[in-house]
Amino acid sequence: MEYLSRLDDFTKDASSFSSVRYDEIESFRIRFLGKKGIIAELFAEFKNLPPDQRRQYGQKINTLKKLVQSRHRQLLKKLSGNKQVHGNDDLTLPGDPVFSGSHHPVSIIRNEIINIFFRLGFSVSEGPEIEDDLHVFTKLNFPPDHPARDMQDTFFIEKNIPVNVTKDILLRTHTSSVQVRVMEKQKPPIRTISPGRVFRNEAISARAHCIFHQVEGLYIDIDVSFAQLKQTLLYFTREMFGSGTDIRFRPSFFPFTEPSAEMDISCLLCGGKGCNVCKYTGWLEILGCGMVDPNVLETNGIDSNIFTGFAFGMGVERIAMLKYQINDLRLYFENDLRFLEQFATHI
Ligand code: DAH
Repeated sequence: MEYLSRLDDFTKDASSFSSVRYDEIESFRIRFLGKKGIIAELFAEFKNLPPDQRRQYGQKINTLKKLVQSRHRQLLKKLSGNKQVHGNDDLTLPGDPVFSGSHHPVSIIRNEIINIFFRLGFSVSEGPEIEDDLHVFTKLNFPPDHPARDMQDTFFIEKNIPVNVTKDILLRTHTSSVQVRVMEKQKPPIRTISPGRVFRNEAISARAHCIFHQVEGLYIDIDVSFAQLKQTLLYFTREMFGSGTDIRFRPSFFPFTEPSAEMDISCLLCGGKGCNVCKYTGWLEILGCGMVDPNVLETNGIDSNIFTGFAFGMGVERIAMLKYQINDLRLYFENDLRFLEQFATHI
């Protein structure tokens, strides 16, 4: 009868018990509800009672059992809400998988471009995404009413007619604007690349997007030549796409370079034989370049009788597309993990 005489004390114990530790709550459960616990002992003694007392004690023991069960449930619920560490957790269970993340392909390629030019002694410079007409067009030799301004569909924040070079505010359509910013601040020799986001008012499709990334290059010094431009871009191409890659230049037009060219690389898929990626030409277009127009040097305070320079601009998405064989620009912006996870090993 030892346990039965303490029934009221047990009831008090159970209702006053409290803890925020899983191991203590578990000990409480085992102490009362375990196989050799208090409730089991109480029931074991119960059958020795005289029959007329059994009903009363039976009810009391059941009440105690329910009290312990609900107290136990309450404390556990509070605990999981508190996110306390469970002292009794099964430490042999495998951990929850944590995806450690991966760099976006655009970041991977941008960093690779930066590293290649860094090895050639180029610094990195940046400029604002919200620009004025002066830096995006005028100081790059785009005349006020020249159709060259229509080459790029511009998102204007403020637009005046006629053009007001400092009041017309827009999202930069190319990173060539950073050339101007650098020339304003720095005297030659200048050897810099400018990675950044650019914006164009384009309908979004597999081949065009209104936001993309460019890397601009600028080298100004005494006796900078077109031959140096070619050699620099050949080095870049072979570092980026492999030592067997060839380049070719086609004459082109940009207002800020004279002469201007577009550069193609030999097709990465067919090596120049012709396939549907290079549209059976054997070549893939990757960047624009040229010798900095003397007008641009002069407008930006650099003496074109002493200095010459070359410049180039490339699209980062385009290079990543060629390198990873990505066939839809929109994939870059959707942030679909099934796409992004494929670059996890490239960190
Ligand atoms: N800014 C040009 C574009 O967005 C690319 C470019 C072409 C940049 C020739 C240059 C260059 O610096 O010399 O299409």
